[in-house]
Amino acid sequence: MPAQNMEELVSLCKRRGFIFQGSEIYGGLQGFYDYGPLGVELKNNIKAAWWRSNVYERDDMEGLDSSIIMHRMVLRHSGHEATFSDPMVDNRKTKKRYRLDHLVKEQKAAVQAAVAEAMGESLENFPALVAALVKRPADASAALISAGVRDSHSGETGDWTEPKPFNMMFKTTIGPTADEDSFGYLRPETAQGIFTNFKNVVDSTSRRLPFGIAQIGKAFRNEITPRNFIFRVRELEQMEIEFFCTPGTDEDWHAHWLEKRLSWWEAQGVPRSKIEILDVPKEDLAHYSKRTYDLMYDYPTLGHEEIEGIANRSDYDLGSHTKAQGELGLVASVEENLDSVAKLTIPHPETNKPVVPFVIEPSAGVDRALLAVMSEAFTKETLENGSERIVLKLKPHLAPIKVAVIPLARNREEITSLARQIKADLQRLGLGRVLYEDSGNIGKAYRRHDEVGTPFCVTVDFDTVGLGGEGKVSDPALLGTVTVRDRDTLAQERVRVDELSAWIRTRLA
Ligand code: GAP
Repeated sequence: MPAQNMEELVSLCKRRGFIFQGSEIYGGLQGFYDYGPLGVELKNNIKAAWWRSNVYERDDMEGLDSSIIMHRMVLRHSGHEATFSDPMVDNRKTKKRYRLDHLVKEQKAAVQAAVAEAMGESLENFPALVAALVKRPADASAALISAGVRDSHSGETGDWTEPKPFNMMFKTTIGPTADEDSFGYLRPETAQGIFTNFKNVVDSTSRRLPFGIAQIGKAFRNEITPRNFIFRVRELEQMEIEFFCTPGTDEDWHAHWLEKRLSWWEAQGVPRSKIEILDVPKEDLAHYSKRTYDLMYDYPTLGHEEIEGIANRSDYDLGSHTKAQGELGLVASVEENLDSVAKLTIPHPETNKPVVPFVIEPSAGVDRALLAVMSEAFTKETLENGSERIVLKLKPHLAPIKVAVIPLARNREEITSLARQIKADLQRLGLGRVLYEDSGNIGKAYRRHDEVGTPFCVTVDFDTVGLGGEGKVSDPALLGTVTVRDRDTLAQERVRVDELSAWIRTRLA
């Protein structure tokens, strides 16, 4: 059974070195997390699985790694300067600041209903209620106060200001200058790097429609209220595809990507039955979107929340950047340049005339993926002897450690040197991390590897090397064999050392 609550996961992540609070020794920095020795392996494996499936296994995809800091004009003309904001509200009493929709959602049902009633809206349609609060700020302030909305920190009713938009982009200065205009933005989505490189990729690869560009990288959002562990952070990582297609074929490609992405999640151990598809209502669509499907995974404690958005961005971004270049004089005008090389266009596959393609964008968060994958893998079992074990039943390709090689005696050279040799041989298979594990008691090592999801533990013992030990005479039938313990079934099998690499490869590759 998957994790029942977030605390179980947070505790495992910290205890076993998956995730730590950012800047922890100085009291921590809200909304920033560091991935520890096992977290970085799991994260890398998720990203590799995504890249393999979306780039290597397709013939219509190119990869990209664009810079994080971007020219402010990019984010102006993408629409982010004007619209990438969340509504915030302040409590004059406590001076605390909240994201409006989160604040209302956290209230008791009766208080939420009173806010809705004061605004003349229905609580059933929460997005419409939030939209009304944003559109009518004076009414909103009065409604929050009269409904008795409480401050999440003090627990007291608040004296609420009018909501106002808070732009979530991080700015940074560029170069040794005091000039106020010398700033750039940390990208709030990796997508813009793909749009600004569209022409470069087309020209250097001779791609024709339809094709996509994939990118994995950090994005930054100054969230008003980061929360729920790594679910909502200020420094996040995204796995994004911008798939360019001929206008008119966009809806078919949208359906194609919805299906592809659901089956990818399934292959990572996140079943379709746990993902609801939200056809985002028109009033909630991002400024660039013609239509968006949000994949809402059923997270422990949080319930259904977005793990991935699959948007039809139409020709919004390429069109807007092209238009902007025209206005800035970088190209003479959009129309004039339709036949020139400077525009973000590509020949139409049938007419050969330049066309601004439509874009389908599957965009998944790596941090949210990791949380979902861990939630599904987290299992608590009661063993036959009545003891309880926690085991992370990760798909083997995602497991941070693939095999732990354990020498049964740390002080017997015959055993340790063979164990080291086996570790090196298995490492060379290139399946991921293999660990030489001599940290002590074998029972504890098994428990630790269950908790971090290691599919196999290989034990080199006295029999393996033909030594008597622990009051036993060596069994000649076991000479040259090791014990392999299966994480999920707990079955232990003797496997010949000279067949071990092939044995492991068939089970992990
Ligand atoms: N380029 C489109 C885009 O950025 P989005 O819905 O804002 O769309 C895409 O973000 C994905 O990025 C989300 O589905 C989520 O998985 C992840 N994400 C967004 N904001 C996040 C945050 N503050 N913390 C963690 N992940 C986040």
